[in-house]
Amino acid sequence: MPERKTVLVTGGSGFIGANLVRRLIQNYRVVNLDRLTYAANPLSLADLDTHPAYEFVHASIADRERVSALLTRTQPDAILHLAAESHVDRSIEDAEDFIQTNVVGTYVLLEAARGYWNNLPQGRKADFRFLHVSTDEVFGSLGANGYFSETTPYAPNSPYSASKASSDHFVRAYHHTHGLPTVITNCSNNYGPYQFPEKMIPLMILNAISGKTLPVYGQGTNVRDWIYVEDHCRALQLAFEKGIAGETYVFGADTEQVNLDLVHKICALLDEIAPVDENPLTRGRGLNTYAGLIRFVTDRPGHDQRYAIDSAKARRELGWSPREDFESGLRKTVEWYLSNPKWVAQASGGAYSEWMQKNYAWRAHKEAK
Ligand code: NAD
Ligand code: TYD
Repeated sequence: MPERKTVLVTGGSGFIGANLVRRLIQNYRVVNLDRLTYAANPLSLADLDTHPAYEFVHASIADRERVSALLTRTQPDAILHLAAESHVDRSIEDAEDFIQTNVVGTYVLLEAARGYWNNLPQGRKADFRFLHVSTDEVFGSLGANGYFSETTPYAPNSPYSASKASSDHFVRAYHHTHGLPTVITNCSNNYGPYQFPEKMIPLMILNAISGKTLPVYGQGTNVRDWIYVEDHCRALQLAFEKGIAGETYVFGADTEQVNLDLVHKICALLDEIAPVDENPLTRGRGLNTYAGLIRFVTDRPGHDQRYAIDSAKARRELGWSPREDFESGLRKTVEWYLSNPKWVAQASGGAYSEWMQKNYAWRAHKEAK
């Protein structure tokens, strides 16, 4: 086996991280640093446990000593930073963990990376990359027209996006002040396998198949620009392999969907794959379609209306373009959740159910009209 370069992925046991690790393990030695919060699922990468090029390290990015020792021992050529608290709704309930991980944790990781990078020999120092994976939510909310791009001013609206914006600014500052070769990426909403089922698409799939209601916030008119997670992971690989230090790249797949339309698409796929009258959890309840489970519930406070990305720079400068068509990507995603009950049981058990019962006071299943 030819000598592999080493990448340190933070948050590799989460949704995008697990998909990224699966992609990179084909060509890189991958060290996955993850604290294994509620959002991580050890089953996502269980088959890599014995892979000779994979190492899992259970630690927090906010643990300066562990992170510094890990960098010295594993000698990565790049750090791909995905670890974060990532759910807007949770950040509305309590932003503390978002500040500790997304802001303080990113700062600690940057400091450790700076110390390590400063001691690298010249060639490796120039080639090193700190890739910071962020979100388009830092740009705020769009009206009916326009797109986010690399030059859009920051205007975060939720505690989650405020914490991500703060981390983006620290990354930018470490490049500007200390010369750390950073690349920042801001991506639109991801969907696909291994996404924790508190996020919209897996939540709707799993609620529907279990015969539970489908809570659409407000009137369901909000718009998200969806990208298949594998397209994002390919973009991230290009960003750290080809991206210019100090630059930002935004990624999106030109797939805007109105929330309510998207829920109807998920229901239509389920009607075809697992018809309500053949599903013991929905049969005999007077439902003709899973869409009969849709309920309009109290809106999310501060709910951003629309996100949409103009990824012309990434297409031009990184040679990237999305490959997955939304209809086929959504079908693959629905099929993946229906085919992986063990993964789903692990993700939806214990802490998640408990948290769902205690929180979401504002989201009580109350008809909006
Ligand atoms: P996720 O919530 O599924 O996974 C986050 C992972 O980070 C988990 O494995 C968790 O255990 C780990 N983690 C949390 N705190 C940690 C800490 N202190 N130390 C080490 N590990 C820790 O998130 P995701 O959806 O995979 O998102 C990954 C990154 O991409 C995040 O930075 C997020 O802001 C960004 N992003 C996500 C989306 C999206 O649609 N999901 C879109 C754009 C950007
Ligand atoms: P989400 O997956 O939480 O991503 P984000 O808030 O980061 O965009 O939500 C996607 C959209 O779906 C968002 O407009 C909120 C809406 N939504 C619902 O209507 N119902 C739900 O149960 C969830 C989780 C989200």
